[in-house]
Amino acid sequence: MSEAGQIESLREEVLAGLSRRPRAIHCKYLYDARGSELFERICRTPEYYVTRADLALHESHTPEFSRMIGPQAHVIELGSGAGIKTHRLLASLEAPRAYTPIEISAAALARSARELESAFPEIEIRPLQADYTRPIDSDALTLDPPARRRIVYFPGSTISNFDHDEARDFLARLGRMAGAKGAILIGVDLVKPVDRLLAAYDDAEGVTAAFNRNLLERLLRELGAEVEIDAFAHEARYDEALERIEMHLVARRPTRIVVDGETFEFDNGDSIHTESSHKYSVASFNALAEQAGLKSQKVWFDPDGLFSMHWLVADA
Ligand code: AVI
Repeated sequence: MSEAGQIESLREEVLAGLSRRPRAIHCKYLYDARGSELFERICRTPEYYVTRADLALHESHTPEFSRMIGPQAHVIELGSGAGIKTHRLLASLEAPRAYTPIEISAAALARSARELESAFPEIEIRPLQADYTRPIDSDALTLDPPARRRIVYFPGSTISNFDHDEARDFLARLGRMAGAKGAILIGVDLVKPVDRLLAAYDDAEGVTAAFNRNLLERLLRELGAEVEIDAFAHEARYDEALERIEMHLVARRPTRIVVDGETFEFDNGDSIHTESSHKYSVASFNALAEQAGLKSQKVWFDPDGLFSMHWLVADA
């Protein structure tokens, strides 16, 4: 999407999101260049265990993933494939047929494809610029000659940021993408004590708070909105019933946001919900997969039991 298109989409979301109750802005708007940079920093905070646990799991189990994937596979990754997990996975595969990273940012995709082509000259790297949260043109994934099977690889637990209905529909789509002989290899963060979760989403250094408040800065910078950023505080809340962490921007005094001449009033304590991060048990994730027409054949954990990777196939 062009820069003007992105600003328009942000404007529409903000006008709609501040009008609805509860007030909410979709979490994808957290990730502009500054937001992505702050997210990288979150991954290095001592409290945010997710990235380290995911890496530790890959360190222990990548050879097993490769055995399950087998030779002549087409690995399709949702995301740019720039990280160490992708390197490790590609290095351990037996005679892969091809690798396709699907990424919305052209720059991030080109950078990672160049890097992977030089690191793995023997693998056919087929980058695809697309928004993987929307349906992907199946021709773009077709190989000639075809691969023995397709593996849809989605580490990192981004599935956590989807509501349950969205997650179910998304998984069903990944199942169709993988096809009858294919499989999905997906990362899922696990339920754990609430104090551990709250700390991970409200680190002492304030990086997550800056990440959340960057959304308000975007309103100022990109929409020319009138907004008192210091009137809002970052808050992480755990919803026991929905088993999810929520990020909110909470007004700590009466204030207002004005966008395009429309005024949105806030009383002290009113919040804007900016992200949910759902936590699953193996049983609750299996139930979700089942609703999507998939069944789990294998689950791996990191050594501390914080994070999981699931091998899902079509439930024939
Ligand atoms: C990208 N996603 C998996 C992160 C999460 O843990 O839900 C986003 C995040 N938000 C705040 N901290 C991390």
